[in-house]
Amino acid sequence: MIKKDNYSLLSHNTFGIDVNAKVYVEYDSEEELMAVLPSLKGNLLHIGGGSNLLFRKDYEGTVLHSAIKGIEVVEEHDGDVLVRVGAGVVWDEFVEWAVERGYGGAENLSLIPGEVGASAVQNIGAYGAEVKDIIVLVETVHLQSGEKRCFKVDECGYAYRQSVFKNELKGQYAVTYVTYRLSVHPVLKLEYGNMKDLACREKVTVADVRQFIIEARNAKLPDPKVLGNAGSFFMNPVVTKEKFLAVLEEYPQMPFYEVEGGVKIPAGWMIEQCGWKGKSLGRAAVHDKQALVLVNLGGASSEEIVTLCDAICKDVRERFGIDIHPEVNVI
Ligand code: EPU
Repeated sequence: MIKKDNYSLLSHNTFGIDVNAKVYVEYDSEEELMAVLPSLKGNLLHIGGGSNLLFRKDYEGTVLHSAIKGIEVVEEHDGDVLVRVGAGVVWDEFVEWAVERGYGGAENLSLIPGEVGASAVQNIGAYGAEVKDIIVLVETVHLQSGEKRCFKVDECGYAYRQSVFKNELKGQYAVTYVTYRLSVHPVLKLEYGNMKDLACREKVTVADVRQFIIEARNAKLPDPKVLGNAGSFFMNPVVTKEKFLAVLEEYPQMPFYEVEGGVKIPAGWMIEQCGWKGKSLGRAAVHDKQALVLVNLGGASSEEIVTLCDAICKDVRERFGIDIHPEVNVI
């Protein structure tokens, strides 16, 4: 276990914001977490890989981070494998592990930054897949009582980028392990955007899908080691059918996806229409290849990023009459 006072979080947030945590604790096991919890005073913030966080100031409390590792097949039946993975495993290392074995289910989520624990909190998604579709069980520890609790997938309140862990139970539980169901005979999801090109090939494997997605992501999304960012800064809004039809009348070329409860409009497209793509405000900018991503051009303060965020939200609201909201957790 690592326990440090006045610890810099620079290497724990992909936006590259230099703030301190009053206390930082990194634990290696469930037992270590349960042992340390009673000694922690004040506010607690549990982080993962820091790829979806924007710190506005020093954190006056304890930042917790899991280093629980391990990928273990716990059950195999009817062409499925159940795999229990430690919350501190890097998400893409798990995807790579699955793809190397030919197991299907996680390949569309290749190269998403972050860790396994956060995958279950955030319901990470990309290329027509969401992690909720392969989650079976989320093991947690309650941060106040130190008690263990297992959430079956249908108790997790999953929706687009949402879960109980981000909403009604926010800040209450630390995820320790996630069990995923993978398929030995994968059924590939190739409907999203230009993945249809892949579907035209004769024989497509999970490894082909992973390769395709790695290339697609690398072409559009900035590498946080080069340009600080937290992936999509905004969520794609879901609007009513009436609102969608009204906007479509004015913008017939608008991309959209019909989803449960309405129509999802890509925020990146609206931001680009507002002229923000590639533009900067101080040292914060809108990525020139994907307008949903805000980047730190170098040494940006979180206030500069928040100012840019507010300016974009205002322009999108004025032009389309639609509110967009950050996906990134602003602390
Ligand atoms: N678009 C534009 N201009 C832009 C960006 C997008 O016109 O600057 C248009 C695209 O042409 C396309 C549509 O908007 O017609 C959707 O774009 P894209 O496929 O790039 O996906 P997205 O909706 O912008 C979401 C996820 C991404 C994920 C991609 C691919 C959210 C908030 N973001 O972005 O997730 O990689 O789909 O599945 O849902 C992340 O969460 O960090 C992330 C990168």
